[in-house]
Amino acid sequence: MTIVEAPTSTVPLGGPSLPQERRLATSIPGPKSQALQARKAQAVSAGVGVTLPVYIVAAGGGVLVDVDGNSLIDLGSGIAVTGVGNSAPQVVEAVAAQLAQFTHTCFTVAPYDSYIEVAETLNRLTPGDHAKRSALFNSGAEAVENAVKIARHYTGKQAVVAFDHAYHGRTTLTMGLTAKNQPYKNGFGPFAAELYRAPMSYPYRDGGLDGVVAAGRAISQIEKQIGAENLAAVIIEPIQGEGGFIVPAPGFLPTLVDWCRANRVVFIADEVQTGFARTGDMFASDHEGIVPDLMVMAKGIAGGLPLSAVTGRAQIMDSPQVGGIGGTYGGNPLACAAALATMAAYESENLVGRAREIGAILTGRLNAIRAADKRVGDVRGRGAMIAIELVDAVTGEPDAALTGRVVAAAHAQGVILLTCGTYGNVVRFLPPLSIPDALLVEGLQVVQAALAAA
Ligand SMILES: Cc1ncc(COP(=O)(O)O)c(C=O)c1O
Repeated sequence: MTIVEAPTSTVPLGGPSLPQERRLATSIPGPKSQALQARKAQAVSAGVGVTLPVYIVAAGGGVLVDVDGNSLIDLGSGIAVTGVGNSAPQVVEAVAAQLAQFTHTCFTVAPYDSYIEVAETLNRLTPGDHAKRSALFNSGAEAVENAVKIARHYTGKQAVVAFDHAYHGRTTLTMGLTAKNQPYKNGFGPFAAELYRAPMSYPYRDGGLDGVVAAGRAISQIEKQIGAENLAAVIIEPIQGEGGFIVPAPGFLPTLVDWCRANRVVFIADEVQTGFARTGDMFASDHEGIVPDLMVMAKGIAGGLPLSAVTGRAQIMDSPQVGGIGGTYGGNPLACAAALATMAAYESENLVGRAREIGAILTGRLNAIRAADKRVGDVRGRGAMIAIELVDAVTGEPDAALTGRVVAAAHAQGVILLTCGTYGNVVRFLPPLSIPDALLVEGLQVVQAALAAA
């Protein structure tokens, strides 16, 4: 059993009043978590994986507390969801008030105003001052599916282009857009028709190819292999998430947007992982000033309640026939109440600024580690969405085994850390924006020690 002395500090965004400390009461996972993991194996489909089998009983600020009394530093935010913090008080209050009023009517049966207010807020926050409309769904993948449906209906065309290293979800349509076979696609085919893949801009692995040139390469392939006259939409993550936090070279995204606009192709930005202050802008699209025709959002939108959205140009969003878009739970009143409180907090608490501060801490420390350790091939990302790519120090080849050892050692020391990347060699940092600086720094020190020992 390891007992760790850690500094405590206050939580800027509130949350349950949990000590903001790393505290190991047992080995990780502890005995109660291990017992629950054994029950999971008997009750839950084996296809549902778990990154770190510590079973959580409370969370807030920058920590998750498990059933064995361990307090773990959260560098994952439940995969970029709890930007505003876990159980942020504004969100709890708003959801509790809604819970006491009504839990569900189905917006498409008997509507309520919070759905409209979420749509109005999204129409205001997303890039561009043109007329917009929004529609609400439950998950990122469901919103991606609907963006594709809407783009096809509007253009009367069918083909959709996604990119190398893309991740858009695990439903039947979105699996086809997602690039990586294992674990997301293997054995789940056949995939939907009329989905195509184009080369991405990946500066660390394409020799620093200029962004405009990389876009030209993708466009040329699209024109030769598909034809703009058949293409309904291009969908892209402005910074790729699961693919490895790949930031395309400057000029790549604007060139694609211009080509789409000139060819009546709907440009869809999948901001499911990058959205809502995460990258140090409200949306990653803001960084290069691109204005997507449709934007897909989820994760950070509602402080942990399930909600997703498509927002876009009014003439495109209004194209489908009445009843063509919707679902039983999309825009559930509890999720809408959470979203309104969450989006208000992003603005009132200047969480864009907080993401930039977190980014400065992350990149400063990670670049210092890189300068001393050639196995850290790249440090990249923006704001509170930063990653390191781990490679063989001599060959530069991706080192997934090293990555696995580093992450396992960090987990054992009470730091929740996630990997990603086509080659399984990227460690990603996605702390909640409510994490105190001291805890973030301590988490990075644990990762640094894990790397040194690996
Ligand atoms: C960019 C992107 N698109 C879509 C999805 C799918 O979202 P969900 O898991 O909510 O279906 C994800 C999830 O990680 C994502 O990162």
